[in-house]
Amino acid sequence: MQEEIERVMDVVRKHHKLYENALPLIASENITSNTVRILLASDLSHRYAEGDVGNRFYQGCKYIDDIEERTIRYAKELFEAEHVNVKPTSGVNANIAALFALTSPRDKMMALSVPEGGHISYSRYSVPAIRDLRLEKLPFDPKEMNIDVDKMMKEIKEKKPKLILLGSSLFLFPLPLQEAKDAADEVGARIVYDASHVLGLIAGKKFQDPLREGADVVTSSTHKTFPGPQGAIILCGNSLSEGIDKAVFPGTVSNHHLHHVAGLAVTLMEMKHFGAEYASQILSNAKALAQSLYEDGFDVLCEHKGFTESHQIAVDVRGYGGGDAVAKKLEKANIITNKNMLSFDKTPKEPSGIRLGVQELTRIGMKESEMREIASFIRRVVIEEEDEDKIKEDLIELRKGFQHAQYCFDGKDAYKFPENLSF
Ligand SMILES: Cc1ncc(COP(=O)(O)O)c(C=O)c1O
Repeated sequence: MQEEIERVMDVVRKHHKLYENALPLIASENITSNTVRILLASDLSHRYAEGDVGNRFYQGCKYIDDIEERTIRYAKELFEAEHVNVKPTSGVNANIAALFALTSPRDKMMALSVPEGGHISYSRYSVPAIRDLRLEKLPFDPKEMNIDVDKMMKEIKEKKPKLILLGSSLFLFPLPLQEAKDAADEVGARIVYDASHVLGLIAGKKFQDPLREGADVVTSSTHKTFPGPQGAIILCGNSLSEGIDKAVFPGTVSNHHLHHVAGLAVTLMEMKHFGAEYASQILSNAKALAQSLYEDGFDVLCEHKGFTESHQIAVDVRGYGGGDAVAKKLEKANIITNKNMLSFDKTPKEPSGIRLGVQELTRIGMKESEMREIASFIRRVVIEEEDEDKIKEDLIELRKGFQHAQYCFDGKDAYKFPENLSF
């Protein structure tokens, strides 16, 4: 038995080693500070606290109340929100709760389709199906990699949806939220803005501010550009607070993840202190990586718009065998990316692109010059078809100088397996 347990531990150690020696470029991930890692291993991970601050179903929650109250207070301050709910356990959970609160079965909802950037949870197999909503596609302009504003306004007025879900997993540019709000107001629609990818940029005030631009509700994961523990948050005005809170508990969550709430409190403080600097470096790094890849011969989308205004860039790799083949080839050199559908793709089985996100490499201190080196690693794998093992050696050398999380108070050895977590 002990052997089996050791085997599990060993596999996780190997996983740590892989990431210590890799270039993690998945746009939906990040690493937390060490304080957050410790909190995630605390007794809070064992407990239940159904209910709300000061009104729990179980005893033993006085410190949990303190933590949740603080986390809500810090989030209200950072995002200038009247109301905050920190209980959803993931971004999809937050979206389900928001739709549960704001729609009734058979209502019409508009969202981006998956090939055009919509998250899989917006598809007819996911959240809209759970609520039995009629789903309409938001019109997309592939050249601009954004919603087609004129068509969107016309279609909102014609189709009269009850809800517009504005958000994207291929989120290169701010979405036309103010225009959507103008059209939504004419037909009495509500807007949910899914900030999952860009919450850290919003916290650093380097992206659009959805609550000020007209979103009724903001849903978001807390672990992509916002470098917190896995989980989610919902922000809204006081007028919707009761409905949102009920849709979260008891609607779609029984016990929320208390250790993650404590970790979120700490990350909110980190972002209050370092958020502007971190977000600003993410944007510069994304542009630098895109520019270098473009100069190296890659078809990086949206050159005419400066490639990106977020942490992400999208590359059309049809000329090199498509997204799946390229992502797998890059993995052999420890460059971790994902295949991604582009707007013209007909099937998820043959995605034409790869998506790259620089938020984690920025978190460990990389700057524009490292982005240029990374572009050259990618070029050597994909265009020059050099031996992946040789490139891996070179990038491991580069990674030696970047093992600590920055933009926090305690990021030492961020990828180390916690052998010595002492109790
Ligand atoms: C736009 C968007 N919304 C929601 C989610 C889901 O978040 P989670 O994985 O926290 O459920 C994602 C995941 O990447 C996303 O891209």
